[in-house]
Amino acid sequence: MPVSDDRPTPPFLHPFARPAATEFIEIVRGEGALIWDADGNEYVDALASLWYCNVGHGRAELADAVGEQLRTLDAFHTFELFTNPAAERLTAELAALAPMPDARVFLTNSGSESVDTAMKLARLFWSWQGRADRSVIISRDRAYHGVTYGGTSAQGLAPNKEHWGDLLGGVVQVHAESLDEVAAALAQHGDRVAAVITEPVQGAGGVFPPPDGYLQGLRELCDANGALLLYDEEITGFGRLGTWWGADRYGVTPDLITFAKGVTSGYQPLGGVLVGPRVREVLESDDTRWLRHGFTYSGHPAACAAASANLAVLRDDDLLARAPHIGAVLQPGLQAIVDDGLASGVRGTDGIWALAMHADTSAMDVRDRMLRNGVIPRPIATHSVAFCPPLVITDEQLDRTLSVTRDALEAVRARASTT
Ligand SMILES: Cc1ncc(COP(=O)(O)O)c(C=O)c1O
Repeated sequence: MPVSDDRPTPPFLHPFARPAATEFIEIVRGEGALIWDADGNEYVDALASLWYCNVGHGRAELADAVGEQLRTLDAFHTFELFTNPAAERLTAELAALAPMPDARVFLTNSGSESVDTAMKLARLFWSWQGRADRSVIISRDRAYHGVTYGGTSAQGLAPNKEHWGDLLGGVVQVHAESLDEVAAALAQHGDRVAAVITEPVQGAGGVFPPPDGYLQGLRELCDANGALLLYDEEITGFGRLGTWWGADRYGVTPDLITFAKGVTSGYQPLGGVLVGPRVREVLESDDTRWLRHGFTYSGHPAACAAASANLAVLRDDDLLARAPHIGAVLQPGLQAIVDDGLASGVRGTDGIWALAMHADTSAMDVRDRMLRNGVIPRPIATHSVAFCPPLVITDEQLDRTLSVTRDALEAVRARASTT
């Protein structure tokens, strides 16, 4: 992509982009795992947009559900007294799917809002028990937990934490793979720890599945200390790992779970927090107390309708079973690219993968080359190219993704060796 040209910058100030950039690809249409730009170019959407379009693009059921909801009730807030059928239905469905018994469901508009909500709930849980001093949150490096101040503070990608002034106090970061470091942090901060937060599979930080026994070890350390265990399941929920939740996939149940993305497959913005029985009991223990937290659009009926329709598609089309299949195609295909010397490693599981670049290969250059050949992956932290396609991707589209990846690596590496 050109760095800049003579064009003026557009009014749209893009997220996670160079503000001086003037060149963008206008996406106008999508169907399944394919999308098209305004010039008619077709692309395989190899990252389900931003890790979220699990049911694929262009599902009429979801559009119809949203349209019907908007024609019936556009929106009405859910603070205090008010509710609506779409929010009631969705939260009942999510509570039934939750990996913990008797869950309640708080609704937000995004992953970042969900993370901040969960961090606040963890602190509230302790404060309402007379332990406001239990406010430390332990998080892992390489983590991505969004961009609000809580999530920015808890995430572990250094460039995302710079230039924003003071971040949230009381967040302690540990090495991503070391249970010993978690144990040491828990010992150091003793009974001032509110919660430990982790993605079951680290996503935007590089696609790192948990080391064997890691999540179980975290659960045991939290139990010994009393701290809550909080999963950030923005990416790992709703079929990405072949299960409804990463908690199911790894058989380790946390106290709180954040979700977003795949809950609507992106047809409407929606996120939330599953609140397990331990936190629920404290929240409900005193009838005079108020939860002074919520978003104008928490429980927005159109977003909830999209989510319910999305859950129905995931279930009715048996899409969870697609994730291991995607892994069974992508893993050996990416490994063959590594075996041929074009990349340095493969990480991932089920429907989420990353190809690690050699030190002399730019992941951005590989992505740019792949774009020209009609596949959109995502260059991510730790010098990798990530794949996380819609669960409906076909085998032909997976093969296309692999061959375009191989061609791009060959071209980029040939160019690097001649310069
Ligand atoms: C694990 C995780 N947490 C939080 C977020 C932030 O979500 P959002 O961009 O919807 O605020 C993301 C987004 O990629 C994520 O992957």
